[in-house]
Amino acid sequence: MKYFSKFEKKKKMKITVVGAGAVGASCAEYIAIKNFASEVVLLDIKENYAEGKAMDLMQTASLNNFDTRVIGSTNDYSKTKDSNIAVITSGIPRKPGMSREELIGINAGIVKEVSQNLIKYSPEVIIIIVSNPMDTMTYLTHKITNLPKNRIIGMGGALDSARFKYRLSEALDCPSSDVSGMVIGGHSDKGMVPLTRLATRNSINVSKFLSNERLDKVKNDTKVGGATLTAMLGTSAWYAPGAAVSSLVQAISCDQKKMFPCSVILDGEYGFQDVAIGVPVILGKNGIERIIEIELNEQEKDQLSSSVDAVKKTNKMLSEMSLF
Ligand code: 2OP
Repeated sequence: MKYFSKFEKKKKMKITVVGAGAVGASCAEYIAIKNFASEVVLLDIKENYAEGKAMDLMQTASLNNFDTRVIGSTNDYSKTKDSNIAVITSGIPRKPGMSREELIGINAGIVKEVSQNLIKYSPEVIIIIVSNPMDTMTYLTHKITNLPKNRIIGMGGALDSARFKYRLSEALDCPSSDVSGMVIGGHSDKGMVPLTRLATRNSINVSKFLSNERLDKVKNDTKVGGATLTAMLGTSAWYAPGAAVSSLVQAISCDQKKMFPCSVILDGEYGFQDVAIGVPVILGKNGIERIIEIELNEQEKDQLSSSVDAVKKTNKMLSEMSLF
């Protein structure tokens, strides 16, 4: 008698996560537990570190009931061969009081090398960038790899929107599941644009429940959500960033056609060119299936435009570093 595996047969879906630090390891853990991928390769430069985290994760398989295979590698990109999706979390996190932009000096060179190594073994890969300053690292990956823009995705807005919904649910004193909201713009303390005008509590606009002053506080708390946690933790957060990027991986792996704000290379959309910035996109098997252009009011347009200017200013530092 033929015995079937206790899990439905999954199509082959190989995910690489570069960087086995807190964010990368959390991402790998959530991907494994959600059990939609056949294999996760966790790669780090630190000797045996990724191998140790992968083994520790695999020892939870019988407890968390997943059959995803997680393997670790010490900087051997041949193990990442034919990955469908690759997540770049490598680089240093910020310390209390630092801006994400201050990380560019160290992280840009790392992201350049990592993205080159990834496409060497997986020319069809979809790359998701987490490393900061994320919008600029997304732009750098585009310049270095020359991959089509639908296969280069920056993860920032999904995280910022999760923090936005957390702050809204706190202000509304309601479950996060009752809240819908989106943050567009740059993934930076000043450049985020939380769209309070469009946020809802179970389809009712939040302005019906919250004063403008309270909504301004929600907006400001959202914008410094990362810095607030860095001050509390002494380093960048990892649970929500890991969960956010694993949600993007799942949307692509399972062809969900799910909408997220992601940092994408714009080529005229929203009136901007040659910049990666957070806008609503539909994610599916091709990566970015569609960029969604929503109607913004004048204030939102101004905020987005200032955010683009700030990201372009940081991008200029890349050419000064002669990275491409
Ligand atoms: C954050 O906001 C790491 O940029 C990430 O927590």
